[in-house]
Amino acid sequence: MNLLFNAFLALGVACVTSLAHSQAPAPMAAPAQQQASAPASAGNVPIRAKVAMCMGCHNIPGYRGSFPEVYSVPMIAGQNAQYIAAALHAYKNGDRKHPTMRSVAASLSDQDIQAIANYYQNLPKGQVKPLPDKPSREPNAQVAGLIKKAGCQSCHGSNFSKPIAPNYPKIAGQHPDYLFVALKEYKTQNNPDVGRNNPIMGAIARQFSNAELKELANYVGSLDSELRVHPESRFR
Ligand code: HEC
Ligand code: HEC
Repeated sequence: MNLLFNAFLALGVACVTSLAHSQAPAPMAAPAQQQASAPASAGNVPIRAKVAMCMGCHNIPGYRGSFPEVYSVPMIAGQNAQYIAAALHAYKNGDRKHPTMRSVAASLSDQDIQAIANYYQNLPKGQVKPLPDKPSREPNAQVAGLIKKAGCQSCHGSNFSKPIAPNYPKIAGQHPDYLFVALKEYKTQNNPDVGRNNPIMGAIARQFSNAELKELANYVGSLDSELRVHPESRFR
């Protein structure tokens, strides 16, 4: 992974050099508009080289991972930067155990993590608008009871997209199959490859059966979202 990452860095540096010497578009150059709206770089390495390795999974509509089961790769474009950074630190320090994301995060410095988190938060919004306070649809009576029991909205916001702290995630409209896997992960203990140590969500997820977590995930995932997949083709 480190080797691969270094190769991406080298590519990025080559790209900047060729831009400096000619007006011809380099293979990895972004349209000027996108370069203006996304933070340019941290240190001397362009941010686009840093995110090259993420794009293959997070920037492909419909892309799925297969561990520990088949589920959609989470949307991170439009997510809060501080939450993205917190999640990457949790993979890096082992609080989140997903093996692929652990090795990805292990290759990132703290400075990289901050730059990448800002980049994904600030990607161009396209058609996505800030959501009204009310969720875009009401839950059925059963799901309403589950939400009330755990007070989900007291942390994730009335529309599930306005968390009370910047290091808490927006969850409205996130892929339902991913939400379900994430919720189960907070419950999982004593497995070296699966699970998330988070005292807050651990206590909450353990109050529910998996069938109830699935109902919650399906409802929250069905809501309008500020999250999106930023297709890789738009980077070209
Ligand atoms: C091989 C595919 C793959 C690559 C490459 C990859 N990711 Fe991930 N990422 C995933 C999967 C799958 C998950 C869900 C893991 C889990 O269940 O905890 C994930 C989770 C995440 C999360 C947590 C999202 C959330 O809502 O909690 C963040 C943040 C993230 N990735 C950022 C990145 C960044 C930044 C990069 C590049 C430096 C990257 N990923 C590279 C597949 C990938
Ligand atoms: C006391 C505050 C609090 C409450 C109440 C709460 N959450 Fe969370 N939630 C958090 C925090 C903090 C995180 C981030 C944990 C981490 O970093 O892994 C989180 C993470 C999540 C995630 C993972 C999102 C992702 O992108 O991976 C899901 C899904 C989730 N919460 C759903 C719920 C649901 C559904 C409820 C109600 C049943 C709920 N939460 C109640 C604070 C809360």
